[in-house]
Amino acid sequence: MMDTSTRIDVERVLGRLDELAAVGAIPETTGVARLALSDADRAGRDLVVSWMHDLGLDIRVDAIGNVAGVWGGREPNAHPVMCGSHIDTVKTGGRYDGAYGVLAGLEVIESMIERGVRPRRPIAVAFFTDEEGARYAPDMLGSLVFVGGMTVESARDVVGNDGTVLGAELDRIGYAGPLPCPMVVPHAYVELHVEQGPVLEAEGFTIGAVTGVQGISWQELTFAGQSNHAGTTPMAMRHDAGYVAARVATHVRELVSRIGGVQVGTVGAIELHPNLVNVVAAQAKMTVDLRNTDDDVLREAERELARFVERAAHDEGVTVESRQLARFEPVRFEDRLVDLVETSARAFGYKVRRLPSGAGHDAQMLARLCPAAMIFVPSHDGLSHNVAEHTDPDDLAAGINVLFDVLLQLAEES
Ligand code: GLV
Ligand code: MN
Ligand code: MN
Repeated sequence: MMDTSTRIDVERVLGRLDELAAVGAIPETTGVARLALSDADRAGRDLVVSWMHDLGLDIRVDAIGNVAGVWGGREPNAHPVMCGSHIDTVKTGGRYDGAYGVLAGLEVIESMIERGVRPRRPIAVAFFTDEEGARYAPDMLGSLVFVGGMTVESARDVVGNDGTVLGAELDRIGYAGPLPCPMVVPHAYVELHVEQGPVLEAEGFTIGAVTGVQGISWQELTFAGQSNHAGTTPMAMRHDAGYVAARVATHVRELVSRIGGVQVGTVGAIELHPNLVNVVAAQAKMTVDLRNTDDDVLREAERELARFVERAAHDEGVTVESRQLARFEPVRFEDRLVDLVETSARAFGYKVRRLPSGAGHDAQMLARLCPAAMIFVPSHDGLSHNVAEHTDPDDLAAGINVLFDVLLQLAEES
């Protein structure tokens, strides 16, 4: 049995979470809007970087704005063990999604400094650009570039859903750094994150040892029809883009229910143009998010949706353009690291179970470069991408204790 005394200062983490959540705070809620590369993101970055400075970390910024703070190491030139996550949020985000993993990393390092712990390898804490994909698709863009899955140039050319260009915004906020990707090659990467789903809480577990991340498919569909008068245009003569979008949205739900199992599907955005009560919609732009842990099933869902989209557009005499915003295959984390998380949690006396992640995470990208793992803690009522997102301080502390222990074990490896 290991030393189960609290290794970390959860009050200090809660204080930093509060301070960071004040940046881009959504009035009258505990939530946050810190879209990637916005002014709020810049202010959040500056704050976290100031904490990295205070801890004396060696701060590195790469060409896509990923930031890493590296500390210590009895062998300072050894590949560091990295932890971290992201600090951008969706527009209606909670205060823990991403921020928790980053601030937990700072806490582990601060606590190691205070205790005089000197691991063999350096420890790095990173935050990756645009994990959410809520402004610039795909999601996990910064970590995808970090591991070489997308070039810096093509990432900089991405046009956001607000019409801005990623590279221009990155320059504007001053985070286009000098270093090429990957600026650090980690020995291993461990991401601590809130579960963002209901499983751990419902089943009474404190820690989730994450086995992998499900596959993600995002597409944007744009239907073009014809505006006309809502009162005078006979139904048979309409080319109603809004109607087709509504049919597709309904079909997504039916398709996903028919497939069953772990298949999920979401139509999170629909925009009609001109969006008026008495005008048939000339244009409808919508998004579809499909996810599954089995890539064959996910591919079949995509194919079936594509067939329906063609048919629905044809039936109404509208055109359709489809654009893939994101497509990532399911990722399995190495058993050795999942075991390490599970064993560490058990040694602390925490109830732990293995589970896959429903959400996308930077760890799924880092897994292309080095062994990667994730630690989950419960999300109250399973709420996330919601301003009411909450995790109890005791659970936050438990996750950081496990992170401390797992990082330390990995950092002692040869
Ligand atoms: C990104 O974090 C996602 O899972 O949508
Ligand atoms: Mn996240
Ligand atoms: Mn998120």
